Amino acid sequence: MNFEFTEEQLMIQQAARDYAQRELIKDVIERDDNAIFPTDHVKNLAELGFMGMMVDPKYDGGGMDTVSYVLAMEEICKVDSSVGVIISVNNSLVCWGLEKYGTEEQKEKYLKPLARGEILGAFLLSEPEAGSDATMQRTTAEDKGDHYLINGTKNWITNGNSASVYLVMAQSNKEARHRGINAFIIEKDSEGISIGPHENKMGMRSSDTHSVMFTDVKVPKENRIGDDGFGFKFAMGTLDGGRIGIAAQALGIAAGALELSVKYAKERKAFGTEIANHQAISFMLADMATQTEAARYFCLKSAWLKDQGKAYGTSSAMAKVHTSETAMWVTTKAVQIHGGYGYVKEYHVERLMRDAKLTEIYEGTSEIQRIVISRALLKD
Ligand code: CAA
Repeated sequence: MNFEFTEEQLMIQQAARDYAQRELIKDVIERDDNAIFPTDHVKNLAELGFMGMMVDPKYDGGGMDTVSYVLAMEEICKVDSSVGVIISVNNSLVCWGLEKYGTEEQKEKYLKPLARGEILGAFLLSEPEAGSDATMQRTTAEDKGDHYLINGTKNWITNGNSASVYLVMAQSNKEARHRGINAFIIEKDSEGISIGPHENKMGMRSSDTHSVMFTDVKVPKENRIGDDGFGFKFAMGTLDGGRIGIAAQALGIAAGALELSVKYAKERKAFGTEIANHQAISFMLADMATQTEAARYFCLKSAWLKDQGKAYGTSSAMAKVHTSETAMWVTTKAVQIHGGYGYVKEYHVERLMRDAKLTEIYEGTSEIQRIVISRALLKD
């Protein structure tokens, strides 16, 4: 097994690190405080090629591999995981879902501007009463011949207001249960769509999360993704890759908290010496580094499997559950090491701790990942 990164992968990692450390850091606290969407940063990151990283260049993407995507996500999320989730949803749910399952016409019309980062996409699966139990879709898509009529409400939608294109799962045939679900590309400015208020979240505060309501929204038939009834498999297959993005996001949060803690422990003095010289602190740092490194291997292994065209669903579930729980644990230790300073905003680690919590929840909770992993383990 080769643990060396290629020159190209290292260049992408460096570009992401430079942007995060030079630009994102400047206003990250203000954006978090005031829940300001990072419009200019998204535009700049699009110009740098981060919004459609893995998309084939023939659809205006960067043609990069998933390992590069993980490296870039880690660097961005060391500083600002709100920006990270915007990148992740656009890349691994929306662009990847369209590139893998869309028609040539759909790719031409929607994937290209999404991959260029000119517009953003969102993935609309969750509903008020269908979160973890995703088969229970209540949003309906009634077949009207040349079009579908969509009615219902979607919840917790990342990029809910900033996106121009929605990938929406809806039920077309209740009797068929999950096999009656379809996936659609719906333009946000379609008649009959209304958007709920910005959710006032604990963390990831500058990414925009909204409910989206559909009332008799007309969607042309050519905007359905895949065959009739393919929508649930589309969502599950797409989330397998999305979970690598969220795992990489959690990795960045843990790695960022570790870097800040090492720096602080070498500067802060107590009992006549830097606190790093106290074993209580240095052992904590050692454990944080070990857990973070293990999380990094999980993320890179899943990315590598995907790049090799091998099965990666179980691996991405393992990466997500391990890395998000590591992020929560490492950031809690980081706050502890910083003491009172860890509990105020200027030192960043309290924000990283708040942000870490969401990685255990979205794109499948830790409990859902354990269902996926245990089913794979126990089958036949
Ligand atoms: N790929 C393709 N198909 C899959 C699949 C996968 N990974 N996993 C399951 N399927 C298929 C199964 O083969 C089965 O198909 P058939 O019946 O035709 O054989 C069908 O889907 C149903 O599968 P299950 O019987 O396993 O379904 P289940 O009800 O037991 O649930 C689950 C499975 C894994 C728990 C699923 O419901 C799940 O992942 N829930 C969590 C949903 C989730 O992650 N939501 C996140 C929202 S998106 C988000 O957060 C985005 C954002 O904005 C950040």
